[in-house]
Amino acid sequence: MQLRNLSIPGRAVFAPMAGLTDAACRHLMTDHGAAWTVSEMASAKAITFGDKKSLTLLRDKTPHGLYAVQLFGAEPETLAKAIAIVKEQGIAFDILDINMGCPAPKITGGGAGSRLLLDPALCGAMVAAARQALGEDTPLTVKMRIGWDEAHLTGVEVARQCAANGADLLAVHGRTREQMYIPPVDAAAIAAIKQAVDIPVLANGDITTAEGALDMLEKTGCDGVMIGRGALGDPWLFERVNAALTGSATPPEPTLNQRMNTLRAQIYEMCEDKGEWAAMPQARSQAMHYMKGLRGAASLRRYCSMLEHFEDVDRLIDAVYRLQ
Ligand SMILES: Cc1cc2nc3c(=O)[nH]c(=O)nc-3n(C[C@H](O)[C@H](O)[C@H](O)COP(=O)(O)O)c2cc1C
Repeated sequence: MQLRNLSIPGRAVFAPMAGLTDAACRHLMTDHGAAWTVSEMASAKAITFGDKKSLTLLRDKTPHGLYAVQLFGAEPETLAKAIAIVKEQGIAFDILDINMGCPAPKITGGGAGSRLLLDPALCGAMVAAARQALGEDTPLTVKMRIGWDEAHLTGVEVARQCAANGADLLAVHGRTREQMYIPPVDAAAIAAIKQAVDIPVLANGDITTAEGALDMLEKTGCDGVMIGRGALGDPWLFERVNAALTGSATPPEPTLNQRMNTLRAQIYEMCEDKGEWAAMPQARSQAMHYMKGLRGAASLRRYCSMLEHFEDVDRLIDAVYRLQ
């Protein structure tokens, strides 16, 4: 896949997840074959108000592979200003992504995230403003849902507006805002969006296996997949999906040692990057995902919820080995 001048090295992309897809998590997914990774979402408005924390979310000191920064907002001019600031501040990125999918009331209440889906013309204006602020060389992508609710399945209209105004790719989570994360993904609605535009579309939602990725591509006709929760604690999913997409042999499952070493290294990098105090609360949810399928998972999850210092990770890993 080619986005403007950028050659994309695969068809499986790691999804943005606020509170989870920090630099350590993204680096891990890139190292296991994600075609690109996306920052946690940052507020365009906060950036224009000079908020340092928002810029810190986007700054990757040692990017691995291709990296997209994601902004949310409700006003084209604010988005354009925020992009200019991100560039001025020297934040390195390969792709700019606009969030049109977040269902959280604190985001939609301000008109941003999936609330934009109720106004396709505004979605087009957001993309046009971002395109102008970015210039012609940088790829611009949009992360969206299929609509706001059953009565407002605006995905096709939004997609057309985005494509017409300079978006290079759409990633579509196959649920409405009202559905949050619960009912099964609507592959037919993603397929309709893919049919409606002539830019690449990634299908997103509930992909946890290589077979699931192939099935999603077959049902939607999409150009690639975006994977979020399925890869947490299982970055090897990208290797399995890439092998399935290229028809290569299925890679071997990771050993328990590999899983635990990876967990430890991920939390170590989190601590190095943002300090133990900020990293450890977030490390708890990362660690929980590595417990999937292990014996004694309930008691191991308790250990995860008590991680306070980096040394506690070794106690957790000792408990994992004791219980297997
Ligand atoms: C905890 C959490 C945080 C999320 N944060 C973001 C975000 O910051 N930006 C965004 O576009 N999507 C966000 N999402 C949505 C995911 O990118 C993805 O669309 C959704 O989880 C469905 O894909 P999956 O089933 O592969 O996880 C978030 C999802 C979760 C579960």
